[in-house]
Amino acid sequence: MNFSYESAIALKTVMNAEELISESDLNFQTKTKESLRDIVTEYDLKVEKKIKADLEKSNLDFMGEETASKFIDSDQPFWVLDPIDGTANFTQNLPFYGISLGLISHKDNKVSFHAGVVSVPKLKEIFFTKSENESFYNGKKLIHQDTALKNTLLTACFSGSSDNPEQRKKQYQLFGIINDSSRGVLRMGSAAIQISYVAANKFGATYGINIPIWDVAAALSIAKAAGCTIKIKQNKTKERYNFIVGGKTAVEEIYEIIKTEDLW
Ligand code: IPD
Ligand code: CA
Repeated sequence: MNFSYESAIALKTVMNAEELISESDLNFQTKTKESLRDIVTEYDLKVEKKIKADLEKSNLDFMGEETASKFIDSDQPFWVLDPIDGTANFTQNLPFYGISLGLISHKDNKVSFHAGVVSVPKLKEIFFTKSENESFYNGKKLIHQDTALKNTLLTACFSGSSDNPEQRKKQYQLFGIINDSSRGVLRMGSAAIQISYVAANKFGATYGINIPIWDVAAALSIAKAAGCTIKIKQNKTKERYNFIVGGKTAVEEIYEIIKTEDLW
């Protein structure tokens, strides 16, 4: 199974939902969820409602950030949606937000990434898999290139949750160490876009600690198909993961630093 059929469904479904957020203006209400950095707007809810309904005929299970009540731990492929990844950017009219729809499965505690689409409507950028082994950025096939850490520009993803201050302190320290071992680490506020930009060689690698699966499912499918190396670990809270993605050399170097800092 090469997931070309599901890739095509994902692309069509996301493109059909884009107009819901491109038509938005800045008069929206925001609500906070688990932390003050975890926000939702009526557009997140509208996009999720439409995509969930459109995917019903695919007969595959669905887990979305705004409606998930429990983690799906299935060895059958299932959809994972973040209706807007980068909601904080969206509310500030910064262009780094997008719809992220992935298809993954779990077997023997291992997650597999099959298909995905990340659409960045404000920048007219779309990243998508055509099959499990092929991904594209607008019309261009993605082939990731390996670079040593010291020659790469990187990005980092921070979890919105800060309920473990010790861990948080270590994560900020880690950010500094990796920043000073490379050409620098940016934080753009959308894990999905950051990973897609790695697949497109705009960044050498990116990493995140304790990040929800809906932020990364689509983009990691795209990055895998582009030939990126992925290290990933599921955390105690089942929908949260640590990940590093990029070229083999940079990923190994970042992994060694994260392990030394006792954060993996
Ligand atoms: C957020 C983004 C951000 C990451 C946060 C996420 P949201 O997603 O992906 O990059 O650092 O952990 O919560 O809330 O905008 O969907
Ligand atoms: Ca979101």
